[in-house]
Amino acid sequence: MLINRWISRAQPLLSQNVRSVHFSSTAASSVCCRRSSPWKSCRSEFSRRFFAASNYNLFSTSTPTRSSSVSAFYIPSFNLFGKGSLNEAANQIKMSGYKKILIVTDPGIIKIGLCDKVKGLLEERGSTVYIYNGVQPNPTVTNVKDGLKLIKEFGCDSIVSIGGGSAHDCAKGIALLATNGGKIADYEGVDKSLKPQLPLVSINTTAGTASEMTRFAIITEETRHIKMSIIDKHTMPCLSVNDPETMYGLPPSLTAATGMDALTHAVEAYVSTAANPITDACALKCMELVGQYLNRAVKNGKDEEAREKMAYAQFLGGMAFNNASLGYVHAMAHQLGGFYNIPHGICNAILLPHVQLFNSKDAGAAARLGDVAAQLGCEEHTAQAAIEKIQKLNEQVGVNPYLKDLGVFEKDFDNLSQNAMKDACGATNPIQPTLDEVKSIFAAAY
Ligand SMILES: NC(=O)c1ccc[n+]([C@@H]2O[C@H](COP(=O)([O-])OP(=O)(O)OC[C@H]3O[C@@H](n4cnc5c(N)ncnc54)[C@H](O)[C@@H]3O)[C@@H](O)[C@H]2O)c1
Ligand SMILES: [Fe+2]
Repeated sequence: MLINRWISRAQPLLSQNVRSVHFSSTAASSVCCRRSSPWKSCRSEFSRRFFAASNYNLFSTSTPTRSSSVSAFYIPSFNLFGKGSLNEAANQIKMSGYKKILIVTDPGIIKIGLCDKVKGLLEERGSTVYIYNGVQPNPTVTNVKDGLKLIKEFGCDSIVSIGGGSAHDCAKGIALLATNGGKIADYEGVDKSLKPQLPLVSINTTAGTASEMTRFAIITEETRHIKMSIIDKHTMPCLSVNDPETMYGLPPSLTAATGMDALTHAVEAYVSTAANPITDACALKCMELVGQYLNRAVKNGKDEEAREKMAYAQFLGGMAFNNASLGYVHAMAHQLGGFYNIPHGICNAILLPHVQLFNSKDAGAAARLGDVAAQLGCEEHTAQAAIEKIQKLNEQVGVNPYLKDLGVFEKDFDNLSQNAMKDACGATNPIQPTLDEVKSIFAAAY
């Protein structure tokens, strides 16, 4: 019964398990980049070829395994990194020919003046810019609706999101509905949309969710207090931007939370049943960089090297989970975020050691957690060493390790656990837990 339910939940995820190909993405990038507008011209050709190549696997019936022969690799076709990439992004947008742009962002980004800066860069290059600045942390269905209204009112031809995962996820929801219609709940699950979304450029300011480059959008349904996972190839931005200069002012608590989110992506992708050698390489490098630089970035936000390395780390974590998916840390964290509005990275940081302790009952996962220990610089390469190191890292960067201190109530565990078992992210966890097991993981983290 449990197995059948899991298989039906996992089947759609097999779309990430097709060896097809992002051949067109990389190859097209290198060719098109010699022309004036690389990402725009790549996008349509890429999309056309991609749909033709990828649709067959949606009907696959096998369950994902680390050794399965078919796998896919999704990544935006054009990605900018390093100091100065913000300006370069504005140049690229100009070359793309987009003229009526909606910026999607949140009040924090307005406050630090970054939205005005980007607006200025775009206006200097001839675009008309409108702003939706109402994105909340854990963005909601209402946020998506409000942004969509502006797109329709002003007839925008593209979107630029500025911020962390919340701004990018909200922008993805808006961009998807702008071309596909309907309501965002229609797209919960895997590859539910039929058409490419409105062109989206994502400027990332946290490190991070990696939402600026993933095909995931996590939107909170306020009435049910749950987070919907929309996993859709069409939600990937056409251009991702990681300029570490935009991250120097990220406060220590947010640096810690978002950095632990990046580590969680890497660990979950590495022990995922859909991991493959490419996602493994990305996940391992992400872990190494987080182990070396997160604490430095938390202690001194102006540490340029640490900020730059964390920007790369989170992108690598994104490459890993965008393709190997995640596990029960995220499946459970989404419920805490949706129910109590707790920051996503904090939920993950608290749950990560507990879920990995549970996963270490599986011999394959335990061996992989030994690799995690090695990447994090532990002397012993065991699951236990990895779990202890993660707890120590939480302590170093100032993450409170108990859910009860965040306003979580034990009486909600049953409801939270039932919803976690429906979350698409859990399908690739190395062990599928029972309801009681999920509840006891929440209890252990309490
Ligand atoms: N789509 C994906 O692939 C994916 C992956 C993981 C998480 N998520 C989602 O992302 C959301 C969390 O995103 P997040 O952790 O990046 O945080 P966030 O986007 O919610 O931002 C948190 C706060 O940080 C502020 N902020 C952001 N950058 C700043 C900067 N440079 N300087 C000062 N303040 C800054 C924002 O104004 C905001 O108030 C959650 O909803 C989560 O579910 C999405
Ligand atoms: Fe995450």
